[in-house]
Amino acid sequence: MKNKLLSRLFYTAFNLVGVRAKIMGIAVMLVLLLGTLQIWQVETSFTRILRQELTKQGVSLGRYLAARSENLLLTNNIYGLYELVRDTMDNNPEVKYILLIDSEGQLVINSFGKGIPRGLLNFNKVGEGQEYSRRIFSTGEELVQDVAIPIANGKLGQVRLGLSEIGIVTAVERMQSQLWLSTLVISLLGVGVAYLLSALINRPLRELVTATKNIGEGKLSYRVPLDWIKDELGQLARAFNEMADKLQEAEKEQARLWQEVLRKERMRRYLLSKIISAQEEERLRISRELHDETGQALSSVNLALASLDGVQDPQEFRRRVKLMQETVTKALEDIHLLCRQLRPSVLDKLGLAVAVQRLVRDCSMRWGKDIGLTVTGFDTEIIPDEVKIAVYRIVQEALGNALRHSQAENISVVLQKTENKILAIVEDDGVGFDINEMQNKDIEEKHLGLFGMQERAELLGGKLNIESALGKGTTIYVELPLEGRVSHATEKVKSAVGG
Ligand SMILES: Nc1ncnc2c1ncn2[C@@H]1O[C@H](COP(=O)(O)OP(=O)(O)OP(=O)(O)O)[C@@H](O)[C@H]1O
Ligand SMILES: [Mg+2]
Repeated sequence: MKNKLLSRLFYTAFNLVGVRAKIMGIAVMLVLLLGTLQIWQVETSFTRILRQELTKQGVSLGRYLAARSENLLLTNNIYGLYELVRDTMDNNPEVKYILLIDSEGQLVINSFGKGIPRGLLNFNKVGEGQEYSRRIFSTGEELVQDVAIPIANGKLGQVRLGLSEIGIVTAVERMQSQLWLSTLVISLLGVGVAYLLSALINRPLRELVTATKNIGEGKLSYRVPLDWIKDELGQLARAFNEMADKLQEAEKEQARLWQEVLRKERMRRYLLSKIISAQEEERLRISRELHDETGQALSSVNLALASLDGVQDPQEFRRRVKLMQETVTKALEDIHLLCRQLRPSVLDKLGLAVAVQRLVRDCSMRWGKDIGLTVTGFDTEIIPDEVKIAVYRIVQEALGNALRHSQAENISVVLQKTENKILAIVEDDGVGFDINEMQNKDIEEKHLGLFGMQERAELLGGKLNIESALGKGTTIYVELPLEGRVSHATEKVKSAVGG
């Protein structure tokens, strides 16, 4: 529970600081940890080695004393022994005391002068067969190694030497402070290196954060200027820039589509107003036609009929009847023409293929130009009315344009029906035109033929493609689906025959 709390606290604190602080903190902690561990290790082994060295020194000094004191003990030369002890003490500052003990365990001579500290005499003793014996004790101020060496294999007693460890402590302390100093220097170097490293990592990260903010604020042209870096951060920068490219492209596409929608909307409204006024104009034209032409013809026939009563001369009678016949024939022709213009009845009676054939033939005659026509796939013709009329009107408009604007040598029409669609192509090798320029024209200057064709095709779920370039002729492709509409038409047929 406590551990969990601690780890959560550490995790929170770790995540509260920036990347740079994290890297530097980790570097300093590592250096300090390694430094302390190393100092502790070196201190332990260094102390052990120095202590062994001191013992070795004590043993060889003790052996020397034992060898020298052998004869002196045998001859009971106390003064010689005293001289030996004093010389040794003078020449070896690390020796704290020397005791010479006889085989009975009696103190023969010591370096203290009068009395020796209590308990020291029996503190250490070399056993039989032992080369030496070492024990360590503390005086309260320092540690002392007590080394006991036998004289003449213990037969004459033993030499005891007290060796101060103060030298070891000083050497270890000096070494420790040097190690701490170098650890400090390494720590500072580590901090410096960590600072540089974190700056190297932090800069790209900050750049990425700035870039993300900019993109978030809609500045889609902002790019991370680090895509030349080869490492993972460089990869991240490149991926980021690619994402920004795609976003920018998507935004451009969206703006383009939006403009397209607005343009179409404006055109539709304009087209609608034109259709309404065209409808009125058409009604006016029909009413004028009926009134001025057909009405006039019928009234003149009426008058002529009334005046027939008084005509006695059979020759004159026949002449007048013939005149009336001519007037009625002319009126009938006018009415037929009017009806054809309103809606080509052949479309309903004989179908799309024949209607287009007649349209091409009429145009060819009127403009005195050969127009190529290829019709395929119309063996059975169940085509929805709206598709029929749309294809007919589109071909009519495209053919009209080719004849009026293209100055082409050759014009051709292809009409093809497949199982699920109708394809029409009207092609000329004339002057062509700039499609973009035409589309960017103001609505008021625009002619509605091309736009009307496109609208008709789109309304029926089809597509219309215009290919044109100045001097390279024009091709209009239109494709209208029969699917769905065919079934609609089939339903109509079925219901008509009671199926
Ligand atoms: N086949 C073609 N060859 C050369 N130019 C063409 C062709 N078709 C169209 N154009 C050019 O494109 C323009 C626009 O054609 P569009 O059919 O929209 O209008 P229009 O034929 O001039 O008038 P209307 O509204 O009566 O159809 C034409 O004025 C003409 O300059
Ligand atoms: Mg036109």
